[in-house]
Amino acid sequence: MKNFENKTELSSYVSALKGNGSTIGFVPTMGALHRGHLSLVNSGLEENDLVVVSIFVNPTQFNNEEDLIKYPRTLEADTALLETVSDDRIIIYAPSNEDIYGNDIQSQSFNFDGLEHEMEGAFRVGHFDGVGTIVKRLFEIVNPDRAYFGEKDFQQLQIIRKLVELHHLPVEIVGCPIHRAEDGLAMSSRNARLSSAHRDVAPFIYRTLMSAKIKFGTKSAQDITEWVHTQFKTEELLELEYFIIADITTLKPVKRKSTKKSYRAFIAVYAGDIRLIDNIALN
Ligand code: PAJ
Repeated sequence: MKNFENKTELSSYVSALKGNGSTIGFVPTMGALHRGHLSLVNSGLEENDLVVVSIFVNPTQFNNEEDLIKYPRTLEADTALLETVSDDRIIIYAPSNEDIYGNDIQSQSFNFDGLEHEMEGAFRVGHFDGVGTIVKRLFEIVNPDRAYFGEKDFQQLQIIRKLVELHHLPVEIVGCPIHRAEDGLAMSSRNARLSSAHRDVAPFIYRTLMSAKIKFGTKSAQDITEWVHTQFKTEELLELEYFIIADITTLKPVKRKSTKKSYRAFIAVYAGDIRLIDNIALN
């Protein structure tokens, strides 16, 4: 397993590989890797000669200081997990804050055609400036042929596609399906921080999304939204932050359903002080 902490060394290593004709896939992560991350790595390995996995808890995308401090950092376990997938075709890049930001830990400001103001952007102010800043910087360092992002963070995926389009970045963005635990809970690095009582009730989120999907055939978005709010009132350990049915391209909430458009339901829920997000395709 090749391991880098320094951007210049990583860049020259990867560019030599590309010079020899190898294709490079890239999976940016914040570590605490789980099978959801590994599914992205496996897609990368299927479509490229080598895969770079970055592991970096990006400070500029956290709008909550405590969430940043408590975010799990498990580099040794992450490395061991990646070794089980492939020992010779994965390159880890685990930089320090300084390697990425020097002594100026700040985000650039981005315009993503309004995608950044919806949902996560409205509830986590500045979040997508932080994501745009780090992903653009990582693309410049790694210079991959393809980069893999999970539909778990569907808004992020659409924003990265927009970033690539607006800044003419030479990388193909590949979206990958949501990986779930057997009980339906979407895998997330934050799940490790759930109390056992919260972990037990958390699959309620996906069950509610599945019911919403069934209702979408016959009911209006407003009726479904009201129904979801009522459902969450019965679940004491979970607090609904938002439930929104939105157009997958504009991410704007649906007013009147059109058969020509595709929609997803998006949800954010607090389980104690852990914030969980999920989403589901509706049509
Ligand atoms: P992180 O939360 O570590 O996620 C890294 C990638 O794994 C993202 O593309 C995310 O959508 C994907 N992922 C996470 N859980 C998944 C699941 N259950 N199924 C499928 N894919 C899943 O997203 C970030 O990090 C950061 O914002 C980052 C892009 C690295 C920028 O800092």
